[in-house]
Amino acid sequence: MLLKSLNSFTIISMFGFAFFILFFSGFLEFPSLSTTIKPIRYPTLSLTKSTPHPFTDLVTAFKEWDSLVGCPHFRESHKVSIQIANRSSSLQVSDAESECGELKMDHVSVLVKGWTWIPDNLDNLYPCACGLSCLWTKSSVLADKPDALLFETTTPPLQSLFTTSSPPTATSVPSAPEINTFGLDNNVFSTNPPPTSVFSPSPILPTENTSQDLVSSDRRTGDPLRVYMELEAGRKRSGAEDLFISYHAKDDVQSTYAGGLFHNGRNYHVSSHKDNDTLVYWSSSRCLPQRNKLAKKLLSLLPHHSFGKCLNNVGGLDKALSFYPECTNDANVTPKWWDHLHCAMSHYKFVLAIENTVTESYVTEKLFYALDSGSVPIYFGASNVLDFVPPNSIIDGSTFSSLEELASYVRNVANDPIAYAEYHAWRRCGDLGNYGKTRAVSLDTLPCRICNAVSRKGGRNAGAI
Ligand SMILES: *[C@@H]1O[C@H](CO)[C@@H](O)[C@H](O)[C@H]1NC(C)=O
Ligand SMILES: *[C@@H]1O[C@H](CO)[C@@H](O)[C@H](O)[C@H]1NC(C)=O
Ligand SMILES: *[C@@H]1O[C@H](CO)[C@@H](O)[C@H](O)[C@H]1NC(C)=O
Repeated sequence: MLLKSLNSFTIISMFGFAFFILFFSGFLEFPSLSTTIKPIRYPTLSLTKSTPHPFTDLVTAFKEWDSLVGCPHFRESHKVSIQIANRSSSLQVSDAESECGELKMDHVSVLVKGWTWIPDNLDNLYPCACGLSCLWTKSSVLADKPDALLFETTTPPLQSLFTTSSPPTATSVPSAPEINTFGLDNNVFSTNPPPTSVFSPSPILPTENTSQDLVSSDRRTGDPLRVYMELEAGRKRSGAEDLFISYHAKDDVQSTYAGGLFHNGRNYHVSSHKDNDTLVYWSSSRCLPQRNKLAKKLLSLLPHHSFGKCLNNVGGLDKALSFYPECTNDANVTPKWWDHLHCAMSHYKFVLAIENTVTESYVTEKLFYALDSGSVPIYFGASNVLDFVPPNSIIDGSTFSSLEELASYVRNVANDPIAYAEYHAWRRCGDLGNYGKTRAVSLDTLPCRICNAVSRKGGRNAGAI
C-alpha cells in the first residue's frame, strides 16, 4: 500500500515538475530545444491498479493488463492526447481521392537514380488512387522514358545550357541496370543521356558568352522532372529540383522514417522474455559528444547493455548474436548491423533512442526500430515526437525534470507489468492515433505519392521553372 502511494506521488510530482523542463532542459545542451510551452502529455499510468512486482514474461503482463485495464479504458484515457496529436500539422494528410481532377497524366514512371535508404524491393508497378498507375524502378531499362528522375542524397545535376558537351543521340539508350550510384553518378545528362526523341532539346544558342561551364538550375520543358530526396536533419535542398522530399510536413512530399521497408532482411524474431536485470538496450557507433554525455549520465542510473562503439559495456562489438543466438539470420552470411537489431532489442524492456540532432519533426528509424521490436523507446529528440508515435508508446525523456526522475520512472514501469503492458496497448487495441498518418506518409507509400505529384505537375510537359 505504501509502495502504491509512493508511486502515485512520484507520478504526480512529475506532472508538476514538467513545467520546469524549460529551465532544466539545458542539461541536454542541445541547441534547438523548444522554448515554447508544449502541452504536457504524460502517459497515463495504471500503476495504482495493481501491486507492482517484477516480471519477465511480456505475454503474461499483457494478460494481467487485459483483466485489470483493457482496451475501452485505455481508449478513454488517451482520447485527449490522441485529439491533440490529430490537430497538429506535423504530418501531411494525403487527400488523393478528393483531388483526382488535378491529375494530368494517368501513368507516371519514376527512375530512381541514386539512393541510400530506398530499398531495391520498392521497385514495382503500383496501382494508385484515381486510376493512376506508377512505375517505380531503379532500372533504366524498364523506365526507358522516365517522367521523373529521383535522386536521393545524390544531388540532381545542373543543366548545361549548351548541348555541345553531351549531345543526346538515338543510340545512347542505357542498357545496363543501374547499380547503386550514390555519390558516383552526379550527371545523368552527360553520362547517361536518354534518347533524342524524348529529350528534343531546344538548344539555347549563345550569343556572346560561349563558356562551356555555363550551367543553370532550370529545367527545360520536355526533360523529366527532377525529384530530390534528402532525409538528413538539415533538409538541404539541392536548388536544382522540381520536387523536394524530406521528413518535414512543409516539404513538397513528406517521407517519415516509419517505413517497414527500411533495412530488409532483419531477423524479426521477438522474444516474450524480457531481461529482468538489464533494463535498457543501447547501440550507437557515432559517438557524438552531446549524445554520449547524455547517454552516459542516464545509463549510469539504469542497468543496461551498450552494444555499439560508444560506451560499449558488453566486452566488444557484435556481441548481440552471442547473447541471443536465436537472432542469427543465416550463419553463413556476415551479418549487417541491422540484421539482428530488431530481435536483440526485443529482449529488453527499454531501448534508448537519442537522435543525432534535436530538430522539429526529425524522428528517425532509431525510434521506429525500437517500437517495431516490442520494446519501449526512451526517446530524446524532436520536441513534437508525440505527433508521430502511437498514444502511450514511448517515454519522452525531455519531458522529465531531470535524468534522475526519468530513471526512477523507468524503474517503476519496469517493475510493474500493468504499467509496462500499457505501453503496448496501442498495438494490441489498434489505437494508432497519429501513427496511422506517420505510416501513411512513410517511405513505403512514397511511389504513389511521388507519381501523384508528378502527374499533377504534368510530368515532362510541366513548364520549366
Ligand atoms: C482527426 O481530425 C480529422 C479532421 O480534422 C477528423 O475527421 C478525425 O475524426 C480526427 N481523428 C481523431 C482520431 O480524432
Ligand atoms: C559569361 O559567363 C560567365 C560565367 O557565368 C560570367 O562570369 C561572365 O560574366 C559572362 N560573360 C559575358 C560576356 O556575358
Ligand atoms: C527481477 O529483479 C528484481 C529487482 O532486481 C528482483 O527483486 C526480482 O527477484 C527479479 N525477478 C526475477 C523473476 O528474476
